[in-house]
Amino acid sequence: MIIIKQIKSMSRWAKTQKNKGRTIGFVPTMGYIHEGHLSLVRKAKKDCDRVVMSIFVNPIQFGPKEDFKRYPRDSKRDYRLAKSAGVDLIFYPSTKDMYPDNFLTYVSVTGLTNILCGRSRPDHFKGVTTVVTKLFNIIAPDIAYFGQKDAQQAIVIKKMAEDLNFPIKISVLPTVREGGGLAMSSRNTYLSASERYDALVINRALKSAKRLISSGELNAYMVISHIKKLIKQKKSVRIDYVEVVDMNSLKKINKISGGVLIVIAVFIGKTRLIDNITLKI
Ligand code: PAJ
Repeated sequence: MIIIKQIKSMSRWAKTQKNKGRTIGFVPTMGYIHEGHLSLVRKAKKDCDRVVMSIFVNPIQFGPKEDFKRYPRDSKRDYRLAKSAGVDLIFYPSTKDMYPDNFLTYVSVTGLTNILCGRSRPDHFKGVTTVVTKLFNIIAPDIAYFGQKDAQQAIVIKKMAEDLNFPIKISVLPTVREGGGLAMSSRNTYLSASERYDALVINRALKSAKRLISSGELNAYMVISHIKKLIKQKKSVRIDYVEVVDMNSLKKINKISGGVLIVIAVFIGKTRLIDNITLKI
C-alpha cells in the first residue's frame, strides 16, 4: 500500500493509472477507520482496478465549538486497517497544503444544506462539498463511495456531482452497525460505557417506527412523536431533530408514502450522533 502526502504526487499517480487504462475507486474519510469505512473499500475493490482512500480531518466542516481538535486520529492504526481491506493508496494531505493561507474558494449546495444537520451545523456542508470537490479534482476517480449513515451528506454530494458535471459516479452503501444496532462512527469512541448503552435507543426507536408504519400508521407526526417518546426515556440523550422526509428532496412529509427517510440526530453528553432508515411504502 502506497501512502502519498503531496497533492501533486497524488494527481500524478492517478493520471498514470488512467493512462494504463485502470479505473479508480475513491473512499474519502476523516480516518479513525472502522468497518463502515471498510465496507466502502470492499465494494470499491469489487468495482474498480485501484482503490484510493483519503484520510483528512477537514477543519472547515467543523463549527467553532465542535470537536475538530479532539477528533480521534491514529494514522498507524488506519494504515493497518486500510491495508488489510485492500486499499492500494492512502492520500493523507496536510491542512496547510489543502488550505494554504491564501485559500478563498468554497463550493456550496443550496437548499439541501440549511435543513436537518445543516440547521444545527451551519457551515458544515459547505466544508464537506469544498473538500470533496478538491479531492475529486486531485484524484479524478471513476466511482466515489459514501455511506448511507450520513444520508444528507450523500444526497448533497450526489447533487453537487450532478450540478457541477463531475464525471464521477457516486455510489451510496448501507449503514454498517455494531452488534447492538448502533451505527458505526469514529465519534462512538467519545462515548462512555453507559452512554454507549443509552445510544442503542436510537436504532431501537428507528426499528420501532418501522414496525409502527408497517402496521398501518402513515401519519408522519405520529411516527415522529413515537420516536421522540422512546428516545426521551433515556435521560442522557438530548434530541436535536427527528424528521420524516422525502428520500430524494429531504423535504418534510406529512403522509408517509413512496421513498421515505426517517432521520435522527441526538446529543449524548457532548457527542452528536446521527442515524436514519429508509423505507419504501
Ligand atoms: P467520515 O465520517 O470519516 O466517513 C467517511 C465515509 O464513511 C462517509 O461516506 C460516511 O458516510 C461513511 N460511513 C461512516 N460511518 C459509516 C457506517 N456506519 N456505515 C457505512 N458508511 C459509513 O463523512 C466524512 O468522513 C467526511 O464528511 C468526508 C466525506 C470524508 C469529507 O470530509
